[in-house]
Amino acid sequence: MKMEHKKLKSFPKDFLWGSASAAYQIEGAYREDGKGLSVWDQFVRIPGKTFKGTNGDVAVDHYHRYHEDVELMAKAGLKAYRFSIAWTRIFPNGNGEASAAGIKFYSDLIDDLIAHNIEPLVTIYHWDLPQALQDEYQGWESRQIIPDFVNYAKTLFENYGDRVKHWVTLNEQNVFIQHGYLMASHPPAVKDPKRMYAANHIANLANAAATKYFHEHFDGEIGPSFAYSPVYAVNADPENQLAADNAEQFNSYYWMDIYAYGHYPDAIRQWQEEQGIAPEITAEDAALLADPLARPDFMGLNYYQTATVQANPLADGIGLAPENTTGKKGTKQESGIPGLFKSATNDYLQTTDWDWNIDPVGLRIALRRINSRYHLPVLITENGLGAFDTLESSHEIHDDYRIHFLREHVKAIHEAISDGVQVVGYTTWSFTDLLSWLNGYQKRYGFVYVDRDEQDERELARYPKDSFYWYEQVIATNGEDL
Ligand code: NOJ
Repeated sequence: MKMEHKKLKSFPKDFLWGSASAAYQIEGAYREDGKGLSVWDQFVRIPGKTFKGTNGDVAVDHYHRYHEDVELMAKAGLKAYRFSIAWTRIFPNGNGEASAAGIKFYSDLIDDLIAHNIEPLVTIYHWDLPQALQDEYQGWESRQIIPDFVNYAKTLFENYGDRVKHWVTLNEQNVFIQHGYLMASHPPAVKDPKRMYAANHIANLANAAATKYFHEHFDGEIGPSFAYSPVYAVNADPENQLAADNAEQFNSYYWMDIYAYGHYPDAIRQWQEEQGIAPEITAEDAALLADPLARPDFMGLNYYQTATVQANPLADGIGLAPENTTGKKGTKQESGIPGLFKSATNDYLQTTDWDWNIDPVGLRIALRRINSRYHLPVLITENGLGAFDTLESSHEIHDDYRIHFLREHVKAIHEAISDGVQVVGYTTWSFTDLLSWLNGYQKRYGFVYVDRDEQDERELARYPKDSFYWYEQVIATNGEDL
Protein backbone atom coordinates (compact mmCIF):
# COMPACT_ATOMS: atom_id res chain seq x y z
CA MET A 1 0.00 0.00 0.00
CA LYS A 2 1.83 3.12 -1.19
CA MET A 3 0.82 6.01 0.94
CA GLU A 4 2.86 8.90 -0.43
CA HIS A 5 0.46 10.58 -2.80
CA LYS A 6 1.95 12.25 -5.85
CA LYS A 7 -1.34 13.97 -6.40
CA LEU A 8 -3.75 14.48 -3.55
CA LYS A 9 -7.49 14.07 -4.05
CA SER A 10 -9.44 17.31 -3.74
CA PHE A 11 -11.45 18.07 -0.64
CA PRO A 12 -15.10 17.16 -1.31
CA LYS A 13 -17.06 20.07 -2.84
CA ASP A 14 -19.46 20.22 0.09
CA PHE A 15 -16.75 19.84 2.74
CA LEU A 16 -17.92 21.48 5.97
CA TRP A 17 -15.17 23.97 6.77
CA GLY A 18 -16.13 25.47 10.08
CA SER A 19 -15.42 26.21 13.71
CA ALA A 20 -16.87 25.04 16.99
CA SER A 21 -17.80 26.25 20.45
CA ALA A 22 -19.79 25.22 23.52
CA ALA A 23 -22.53 27.14 25.33
CA TYR A 24 -20.87 27.42 28.74
CA GLN A 25 -17.60 28.55 27.22
CA ILE A 26 -19.01 31.45 25.21
CA GLU A 27 -22.52 32.53 26.18
CA GLY A 28 -22.33 34.16 29.60
CA ALA A 29 -25.76 35.55 30.62
CA TYR A 30 -25.79 32.70 33.07
CA ARG A 31 -28.96 33.76 34.83
CA GLU A 32 -30.75 35.66 32.11
CA ASP A 33 -34.14 35.00 30.58
CA GLY A 34 -34.96 32.28 33.07
CA LYS A 35 -31.90 30.12 32.49
CA GLY A 36 -31.43 27.52 35.24
CA LEU A 37 -28.07 26.79 36.86
CA SER A 38 -25.89 24.01 35.51
CA VAL A 39 -23.39 21.86 37.37
CA TRP A 40 -20.66 24.07 35.91
CA ASP A 41 -22.28 27.28 37.18
CA GLN A 42 -22.02 25.71 40.60
CA PHE A 43 -18.66 23.88 40.31
CA VAL A 44 -16.65 26.96 39.30
CA ARG A 45 -17.70 28.61 42.56
CA ILE A 46 -15.86 26.01 44.65
CA PRO A 47 -12.53 27.61 45.60
CA GLY A 48 -9.50 26.13 43.83
CA LYS A 49 -11.38 24.27 41.11
CA THR A 50 -10.51 26.53 38.19
CA PHE A 51 -7.52 28.72 37.28
CA LYS A 52 -7.79 31.83 39.49
CA GLY A 53 -11.45 31.01 40.10
CA THR A 54 -12.50 31.98 36.58
CA ASN A 55 -16.04 31.18 35.50
CA GLY A 56 -18.44 31.50 32.58
CA ASP A 57 -20.89 33.98 34.13
CA VAL A 58 -20.08 36.45 31.36
CA ALA A 59 -17.73 34.32 29.24
CA VAL A 60 -17.37 36.17 25.91
CA ASP A 61 -20.97 37.39 26.13
CA HIS A 62 -21.99 35.55 22.98
CA TYR A 63 -25.57 35.48 24.28
CA HIS A 64 -25.84 39.22 23.63
CA ARG A 65 -23.37 39.40 20.76
CA TYR A 66 -24.18 36.35 18.69
CA HIS A 67 -25.17 38.43 15.69
CA GLU A 68 -21.78 40.14 15.61
CA ASP A 69 -20.11 36.72 15.94
CA VAL A 70 -22.16 35.27 13.10
CA GLU A 71 -21.21 38.22 10.91
CA LEU A 72 -17.56 37.52 11.60
CA MET A 73 -18.11 33.86 10.73
CA ALA A 74 -19.66 34.91 7.45
CA LYS A 75 -16.71 37.21 6.80
CA ALA A 76 -14.35 34.26 7.27
CA GLY A 77 -16.54 32.29 4.88
CA LEU A 78 -17.41 29.49 7.33
CA LYS A 79 -19.57 26.80 5.78
CA ALA A 80 -20.56 25.35 9.14
CA TYR A 81 -20.66 26.33 12.78
CA ARG A 82 -20.84 23.78 15.56
CA PHE A 83 -22.30 25.08 18.83
CA SER A 84 -23.97 23.52 21.82
CA ILE A 85 -27.30 24.21 23.42
CA ALA A 86 -27.48 24.86 27.14
CA TRP A 87 -29.97 22.35 28.52
CA THR A 88 -30.74 24.87 31.30
CA ARG A 89 -31.95 27.47 28.81
CA ILE A 90 -34.44 25.00 27.33
CA PHE A 91 -35.43 23.34 30.61
CA PRO A 92 -34.21 25.46 33.54
CA ASN A 93 -34.77 22.51 35.88
CA GLY A 94 -33.77 19.82 33.40
CA ASN A 95 -37.33 18.60 32.91
CA GLY A 96 -40.86 19.99 33.22
CA GLU A 97 -41.92 23.05 31.30
CA ALA A 98 -39.76 24.21 28.35
CA SER A 99 -38.70 27.86 28.30
CA ALA A 100 -39.96 29.85 25.33
CA ALA A 101 -37.10 32.35 25.72
CA GLY A 102 -34.51 29.58 25.58
CA ILE A 103 -36.06 27.98 22.52
CA LYS A 104 -36.22 31.36 20.81
CA PHE A 105 -32.58 32.22 21.47
CA TYR A 106 -31.25 29.19 19.58
CA SER A 107 -33.93 29.47 16.92
CA ASP A 108 -32.78 33.03 16.20
CA LEU A 109 -29.15 31.93 16.16
CA ILE A 110 -29.93 29.12 13.70
CA ASP A 111 -31.88 31.49 11.44
CA ASP A 112 -29.05 33.98 11.54
CA LEU A 113 -26.51 31.31 10.56
CA ILE A 114 -28.65 30.07 7.71
CA ALA A 115 -29.22 33.62 6.49
CA HIS A 116 -25.42 33.84 6.22
CA ASN A 117 -25.14 30.47 4.42
CA ILE A 118 -23.57 28.80 7.43
CA GLU A 119 -24.83 25.35 8.27
CA PRO A 120 -25.65 24.92 11.98
CA LEU A 121 -24.23 21.75 13.59
CA VAL A 122 -25.80 21.32 16.99
CA THR A 123 -24.28 19.63 20.01
CA ILE A 124 -27.07 18.59 22.34
CA TYR A 125 -24.92 18.12 25.42
CA HIS A 126 -21.58 19.77 26.06
CA TRP A 127 -21.20 19.08 29.79
CA ASP A 128 -23.53 21.69 31.35
CA LEU A 129 -25.95 19.35 33.07
CA PRO A 130 -28.84 21.07 34.88
CA GLN A 131 -27.87 21.31 38.56
CA ALA A 132 -31.49 20.49 39.39
CA LEU A 133 -31.01 16.99 37.94
CA GLN A 134 -27.79 16.52 39.87
CA ASP A 135 -29.64 17.50 43.06
CA GLU A 136 -32.79 15.53 42.27
CA TYR A 137 -31.27 12.17 41.38
CA GLN A 138 -27.48 12.52 40.95
CA GLY A 139 -27.53 13.26 37.24
CA TRP A 140 -25.75 10.67 35.10
CA GLU A 141 -25.71 8.18 37.97
CA SER A 142 -29.45 7.63 37.76
CA ARG A 143 -31.49 5.95 35.08
CA GLN A 144 -34.03 8.73 35.56
CA ILE A 145 -31.84 10.86 33.34
CA ILE A 146 -32.62 8.70 30.30
CA PRO A 147 -36.21 9.93 29.73
CA ASP A 148 -35.19 13.47 30.70
CA PHE A 149 -32.35 13.49 28.18
CA VAL A 150 -34.56 12.02 25.46
CA ASN A 151 -37.26 14.57 26.18
CA TYR A 152 -34.71 17.38 26.00
CA ALA A 153 -33.27 16.04 22.72
CA LYS A 154 -36.77 15.57 21.33
CA THR A 155 -37.62 19.20 22.14
CA LEU A 156 -34.58 20.28 20.14
CA PHE A 157 -35.39 17.99 17.20
CA GLU A 158 -38.97 19.27 17.13
CA ASN A 159 -38.01 22.93 17.30
CA TYR A 160 -34.90 22.95 15.12
CA GLY A 161 -35.02 19.73 13.11
CA ASP A 162 -36.44 21.56 10.11
CA ARG A 163 -33.22 23.59 9.86
CA VAL A 164 -30.53 21.48 11.56
CA LYS A 165 -29.22 18.49 9.64
CA HIS A 166 -26.24 17.43 11.76
CA TRP A 167 -26.59 16.66 15.45
CA VAL A 168 -23.96 15.68 18.00
CA THR A 169 -25.50 13.93 20.99
CA LEU A 170 -22.84 13.95 23.73
CA ASN A 171 -19.57 15.82 23.52
CA GLU A 172 -16.53 13.86 24.69
CA GLN A 173 -18.32 11.34 26.82
CA ASN A 174 -14.89 9.82 27.50
CA VAL A 175 -13.76 13.13 28.97
CA PHE A 176 -16.73 14.31 31.00
CA ILE A 177 -17.25 10.88 32.52
CA GLN A 178 -13.58 10.24 33.37
CA HIS A 179 -12.96 13.76 34.65
CA GLY A 180 -16.25 13.79 36.53
CA TYR A 181 -16.12 10.35 38.16
CA LEU A 182 -12.49 9.20 38.16
CA MET A 183 -10.18 12.20 38.28
CA ALA A 184 -12.66 14.43 40.13
CA SER A 185 -11.52 17.46 38.14
CA HIS A 186 -14.95 18.14 36.61
CA PRO A 187 -18.33 18.06 38.34
CA PRO A 188 -19.55 16.11 40.24
CA ALA A 189 -15.90 15.59 41.32
CA VAL A 190 -16.18 11.93 42.22
CA LYS A 191 -13.21 9.52 42.35
CA ASP A 192 -14.69 6.07 42.01
CA PRO A 193 -14.18 3.75 39.02
CA LYS A 194 -17.29 1.70 39.74
CA ARG A 195 -19.47 4.81 39.79
CA MET A 196 -17.68 6.02 36.69
CA TYR A 197 -18.50 2.94 34.63
CA ALA A 198 -22.06 2.92 35.95
CA ALA A 199 -22.60 6.57 34.97
CA ASN A 200 -21.02 5.88 31.60
CA HIS A 201 -23.37 3.00 30.95
CA ILE A 202 -26.34 5.24 31.68
CA ALA A 203 -24.96 7.91 29.34
CA ASN A 204 -24.70 5.21 26.66
CA LEU A 205 -28.35 4.30 27.19
CA ALA A 206 -29.42 7.95 27.04
CA ASN A 207 -27.47 8.43 23.83
CA ALA A 208 -28.88 5.25 22.28
CA ALA A 209 -32.46 6.15 23.18
CA ALA A 210 -32.13 9.70 21.77
CA THR A 211 -30.40 8.47 18.60
CA LYS A 212 -33.09 5.84 18.05
CA TYR A 213 -35.84 8.40 18.58
CA PHE A 214 -34.18 10.72 16.07
CA HIS A 215 -33.87 8.01 13.43
CA GLU A 216 -37.50 7.02 13.90
CA HIS A 217 -38.89 10.52 13.47
CA PHE A 218 -36.45 12.87 11.73
CA ASP A 219 -34.21 13.22 8.72
CA GLY A 220 -30.60 14.19 9.12
CA GLU A 221 -27.45 12.81 10.65
CA ILE A 222 -26.65 12.19 14.27
CA GLY A 223 -23.51 11.00 16.02
CA PRO A 224 -21.20 11.53 18.98
CA SER A 225 -18.01 13.53 19.29
CA PHE A 226 -15.26 11.71 21.12
CA ALA A 227 -11.90 12.95 22.27
CA TYR A 228 -9.61 10.70 20.29
CA SER A 229 -5.86 10.52 20.89
CA PRO A 230 -4.31 7.59 19.01
CA VAL A 231 -1.79 5.83 21.21
CA TYR A 232 1.83 5.00 20.35
CA ALA A 233 4.11 2.61 22.21
CA VAL A 234 7.28 4.27 23.49
CA ASN A 235 9.30 1.70 21.49
CA ALA A 236 9.04 -1.70 19.76
CA ASP A 237 9.31 -3.77 22.98
CA PRO A 238 6.25 -6.06 22.74
CA GLU A 239 5.35 -5.30 26.37
CA ASN A 240 5.16 -1.62 25.48
CA GLN A 241 3.20 -2.42 22.32
CA LEU A 242 0.75 -4.35 24.48
CA ALA A 243 0.51 -1.37 26.80
CA ALA A 244 -0.31 0.82 23.77
CA ASP A 245 -3.02 -1.60 22.77
CA ASN A 246 -4.40 -1.52 26.32
CA ALA A 247 -4.43 2.25 26.36
CA GLU A 248 -6.15 2.46 22.98
CA GLN A 249 -8.84 0.10 24.28
CA PHE A 250 -9.29 1.88 27.60
CA ASN A 251 -9.14 5.47 26.38
CA SER A 252 -11.01 5.11 23.12
CA TYR A 253 -12.40 1.82 21.87
CA TYR A 254 -14.23 1.10 25.11
CA TRP A 255 -16.15 4.34 24.62
CA MET A 256 -16.66 4.22 20.86
CA ASP A 257 -17.33 0.53 20.18
CA ILE A 258 -20.57 0.64 22.11
CA TYR A 259 -21.79 3.42 19.80
CA ALA A 260 -20.70 1.72 16.62
CA TYR A 261 -21.34 -1.95 17.47
CA GLY A 262 -23.79 -1.85 20.39
CA HIS A 263 -21.65 -3.89 22.78
CA TYR A 264 -18.61 -3.30 24.96
CA PRO A 265 -15.20 -4.84 24.14
CA ASP A 266 -14.97 -8.27 25.85
CA ALA A 267 -11.48 -7.81 27.29
CA ILE A 268 -12.47 -4.67 29.18
CA ARG A 269 -15.71 -6.19 30.40
CA GLN A 270 -13.71 -9.09 31.82
CA TRP A 271 -11.16 -6.77 33.42
CA GLN A 272 -13.99 -4.73 35.00
CA GLU A 273 -15.51 -7.91 36.40
CA GLU A 274 -12.17 -8.95 37.92
CA GLN A 275 -11.91 -5.51 39.54
CA GLY A 276 -15.53 -5.57 40.73
CA ILE A 277 -16.34 -2.38 38.81
CA ALA A 278 -18.42 -3.67 35.87
CA PRO A 279 -21.65 -1.78 35.17
CA GLU A 280 -24.93 -3.63 35.46
CA ILE A 281 -26.36 -4.40 32.03
CA THR A 282 -29.97 -5.61 31.88
CA ALA A 283 -31.48 -7.52 28.96
CA GLU A 284 -33.41 -4.35 27.98
CA ASP A 285 -30.19 -2.33 28.04
CA ALA A 286 -28.47 -4.83 25.78
CA ALA A 287 -31.40 -4.76 23.36
CA LEU A 288 -31.50 -0.96 23.21
CA LEU A 289 -27.74 -0.69 22.72
CA ALA A 290 -27.80 -3.30 19.95
CA ASP A 291 -30.73 -1.66 18.13
CA PRO A 292 -29.65 -0.70 14.57
CA LEU A 293 -31.56 2.57 14.92
CA ALA A 294 -29.27 3.53 17.80
CA ARG A 295 -26.16 3.46 15.53
CA PRO A 296 -24.58 6.84 14.70
CA ASP A 297 -24.46 8.17 11.14
CA PHE A 298 -20.94 9.52 11.57
CA MET A 299 -18.12 9.42 14.08
CA GLY A 300 -17.25 12.86 15.40
CA LEU A 301 -13.66 13.23 16.57
CA ASN A 302 -12.08 15.93 18.67
CA TYR A 303 -8.42 15.60 17.83
CA TYR A 304 -5.76 17.54 19.69
CA GLN A 305 -2.85 15.19 20.26
CA THR A 306 -1.56 11.64 20.42
CA ALA A 307 -0.60 9.73 23.55
CA THR A 308 2.56 7.67 24.11
CA VAL A 309 2.68 4.91 26.69
CA GLN A 310 4.78 2.15 28.16
CA ALA A 311 4.12 -0.95 30.22
CA ASN A 312 3.07 -0.38 33.84
CA PRO A 313 3.91 -2.94 36.55
CA LEU A 314 0.91 -4.55 38.15
CA ALA A 315 -0.51 -2.85 41.23
CA ASP A 316 -3.94 -2.20 42.62
CA GLY A 317 -6.11 0.69 41.66
CA ILE A 318 -7.01 2.77 38.68
CA GLY A 319 -6.11 6.35 38.12
CA LEU A 320 -5.48 8.96 35.49
CA ALA A 321 -3.73 12.21 36.30
CA PRO A 322 -5.59 15.48 35.76
CA GLU A 323 -4.40 17.72 32.95
CA ASN A 324 -1.81 20.48 33.29
CA THR A 325 -3.85 23.63 33.83
CA THR A 326 -0.97 25.98 34.53
CA GLY A 327 0.21 27.11 31.12
CA LYS A 328 3.75 26.26 32.30
CA LYS A 329 5.54 23.59 30.32
CA GLY A 330 6.82 20.50 32.08
CA THR A 331 4.27 20.28 34.88
CA LYS A 332 2.38 17.31 33.48
CA GLN A 333 1.95 14.41 35.90
CA GLU A 334 2.42 10.76 35.14
CA SER A 335 -0.81 9.00 34.32
CA GLY A 336 -2.00 5.44 33.67
CA ILE A 337 -3.72 2.33 34.91
CA PRO A 338 -1.59 -0.03 37.00
CA GLY A 339 -1.01 -3.32 35.20
CA LEU A 340 -2.11 -1.91 31.86
CA PHE A 341 -0.19 1.17 30.74
CA LYS A 342 1.35 4.44 31.87
CA SER A 343 2.29 7.63 30.09
CA ALA A 344 5.70 8.11 28.48
CA THR A 345 7.44 11.03 26.82
CA ASN A 346 7.56 11.11 23.04
CA ASP A 347 10.96 12.52 22.07
CA TYR A 348 9.84 13.13 18.49
CA LEU A 349 7.14 15.64 19.35
CA GLN A 350 7.12 19.22 20.52
CA THR A 351 4.54 20.35 23.05
CA THR A 352 2.31 23.34 23.70
CA ASP A 353 2.59 25.47 26.83
CA TRP A 354 0.03 23.16 28.39
CA ASP A 355 2.17 20.10 27.60
CA TRP A 356 -0.05 18.81 24.80
CA ASN A 357 1.86 16.97 22.06
CA ILE A 358 1.80 18.63 18.67
CA ASP A 359 1.30 15.86 16.16
CA PRO A 360 -0.38 16.48 12.79
CA VAL A 361 0.63 13.05 11.47
CA GLY A 362 -1.32 11.67 14.43
CA LEU A 363 -4.47 13.16 12.91
CA ARG A 364 -3.92 11.20 9.71
CA ILE A 365 -3.41 8.08 11.81
CA ALA A 366 -6.52 8.87 13.85
CA LEU A 367 -8.68 9.22 10.74
CA ARG A 368 -7.37 5.98 9.27
CA ARG A 369 -7.78 3.99 12.49
CA ILE A 370 -11.34 5.19 13.04
CA ASN A 371 -12.28 4.64 9.43
CA SER A 372 -10.99 1.10 9.35
CA ARG A 373 -12.48 0.19 12.73
CA TYR A 374 -15.95 1.70 12.28
CA HIS A 375 -16.47 2.27 8.55
CA LEU A 376 -18.33 5.47 9.28
CA PRO A 377 -17.81 8.90 7.78
CA VAL A 378 -15.76 11.07 10.10
CA LEU A 379 -16.56 14.61 11.14
CA ILE A 380 -13.63 16.35 12.83
CA THR A 381 -15.66 18.18 15.43
CA GLU A 382 -12.66 19.88 17.08
CA ASN A 383 -8.97 20.54 16.49
CA GLY A 384 -6.93 23.57 17.42
CA LEU A 385 -4.07 25.11 19.35
CA GLY A 386 -4.44 26.59 22.83
CA ALA A 387 -1.84 29.33 23.18
CA PHE A 388 -1.05 32.68 24.77
CA ASP A 389 -1.71 35.42 22.19
CA THR A 390 -0.56 39.03 22.16
CA LEU A 391 -2.86 41.86 21.19
CA GLU A 392 -0.73 44.53 19.49
CA SER A 393 -1.56 48.20 19.99
CA SER A 394 -2.76 48.15 16.38
CA HIS A 395 -5.29 45.49 17.44
CA GLU A 396 -3.53 42.89 15.31
CA ILE A 397 -2.70 39.42 16.59
CA HIS A 398 0.19 37.70 14.82
CA ASP A 399 -0.53 34.07 15.60
CA ASP A 400 1.75 32.46 13.02
CA TYR A 401 2.18 29.49 15.43
CA ARG A 402 -1.57 28.80 15.16
CA ILE A 403 -1.50 29.09 11.37
CA HIS A 404 1.40 26.65 11.28
CA PHE A 405 -0.41 24.22 13.58
CA LEU A 406 -3.67 24.33 11.63
CA ARG A 407 -1.96 24.20 8.23
CA GLU A 408 -0.13 21.00 9.15
CA HIS A 409 -3.37 19.47 10.42
CA VAL A 410 -5.30 20.42 7.29
CA LYS A 411 -2.51 18.80 5.25
CA ALA A 412 -2.93 15.64 7.34
CA ILE A 413 -6.68 15.63 6.64
CA HIS A 414 -5.94 16.07 2.95
CA GLU A 415 -3.60 13.05 3.07
CA ALA A 416 -6.18 10.98 4.94
CA ILE A 417 -8.85 11.84 2.37
CA SER A 418 -6.39 10.79 -0.30
CA ASP A 419 -5.83 7.54 1.65
CA GLY A 420 -9.54 6.88 1.17
CA VAL A 421 -11.03 8.08 4.46
CA GLN A 422 -14.41 9.78 4.14
CA VAL A 423 -14.02 13.04 6.07
CA VAL A 424 -17.11 15.21 5.86
CA GLY A 425 -16.00 18.30 7.72
CA TYR A 426 -13.60 20.10 9.97
CA THR A 427 -14.84 22.44 12.68
CA THR A 428 -11.80 23.94 14.38
CA TRP A 429 -11.72 24.76 18.03
CA SER A 430 -12.63 27.57 18.29
CA PHE A 431 -14.09 30.53 16.41
CA THR A 432 -13.78 33.26 19.01
CA ASP A 433 -11.57 32.92 22.05
CA LEU A 434 -13.52 31.43 24.89
CA LEU A 435 -13.36 30.07 28.41
CA SER A 436 -11.23 26.97 28.90
CA TRP A 437 -13.13 24.96 31.50
CA LEU A 438 -10.26 24.76 34.00
CA ASN A 439 -7.72 27.16 32.47
CA GLY A 440 -9.57 30.43 32.45
CA TYR A 441 -9.25 32.83 29.54
CA GLN A 442 -5.49 32.88 29.08
CA LYS A 443 -5.49 29.74 26.92
CA ARG A 444 -6.76 31.02 23.60
CA TYR A 445 -7.93 28.91 20.68
CA GLY A 446 -9.89 31.33 18.48
CA PHE A 447 -9.53 32.91 15.07
CA VAL A 448 -11.01 35.97 16.76
CA TYR A 449 -9.36 37.52 19.78
CA VAL A 450 -11.68 38.60 22.56
CA ASP A 451 -10.27 41.39 24.68
CA ARG A 452 -11.15 40.73 28.28
CA ASP A 453 -8.69 43.23 29.71
CA GLU A 454 -10.85 46.26 29.21
CA GLN A 455 -12.33 48.27 32.03
CA ASP A 456 -15.80 47.04 31.33
CA GLU A 457 -15.76 43.30 30.67
CA ARG A 458 -19.05 43.60 28.81
CA GLU A 459 -17.18 45.46 26.07
CA LEU A 460 -15.26 42.33 25.14
CA ALA A 461 -14.18 43.66 21.76
CA ARG A 462 -13.50 41.15 18.97
CA TYR A 463 -10.38 41.37 16.78
CA PRO A 464 -9.66 38.92 13.95
CA LYS A 465 -6.23 37.31 14.28
CA ASP A 466 -3.88 36.60 11.37
CA SER A 467 -5.17 33.01 11.45
CA PHE A 468 -8.67 34.33 10.66
CA TYR A 469 -7.49 35.63 7.29
CA TRP A 470 -5.50 32.47 6.66
CA TYR A 471 -8.58 30.29 7.27
CA GLU A 472 -10.68 32.57 5.05
CA GLN A 473 -8.27 31.77 2.22
CA VAL A 474 -8.26 28.04 2.98
CA ILE A 475 -12.06 27.94 2.79
CA ALA A 476 -12.24 30.13 -0.31
CA THR A 477 -9.94 27.70 -2.16
CA ASN A 478 -11.53 24.56 -0.65
CA GLY A 479 -8.26 23.62 1.02
CA GLU A 480 -6.04 24.10 -2.04
CA ASP A 481 -4.25 27.21 -0.85
CA LEU A 482 -2.76 26.63 2.55
C1 NOJ B 1 -12.56 19.54 24.07
C2 NOJ B 1 -13.81 20.10 24.63
O1 NOJ B 1 -14.91 19.64 23.90
C3 NOJ B 1 -13.81 21.61 24.66
O2 NOJ B 1 -14.91 22.03 25.39
C4 NOJ B 1 -12.50 22.07 25.21
O3 NOJ B 1 -12.47 23.43 25.47
C5 NOJ B 1 -11.40 21.65 24.28
N1 NOJ B 1 -11.37 20.22 24.28
C6 NOJ B 1 -10.02 22.15 24.63
O4 NOJ B 1 -9.59 21.57 25.83
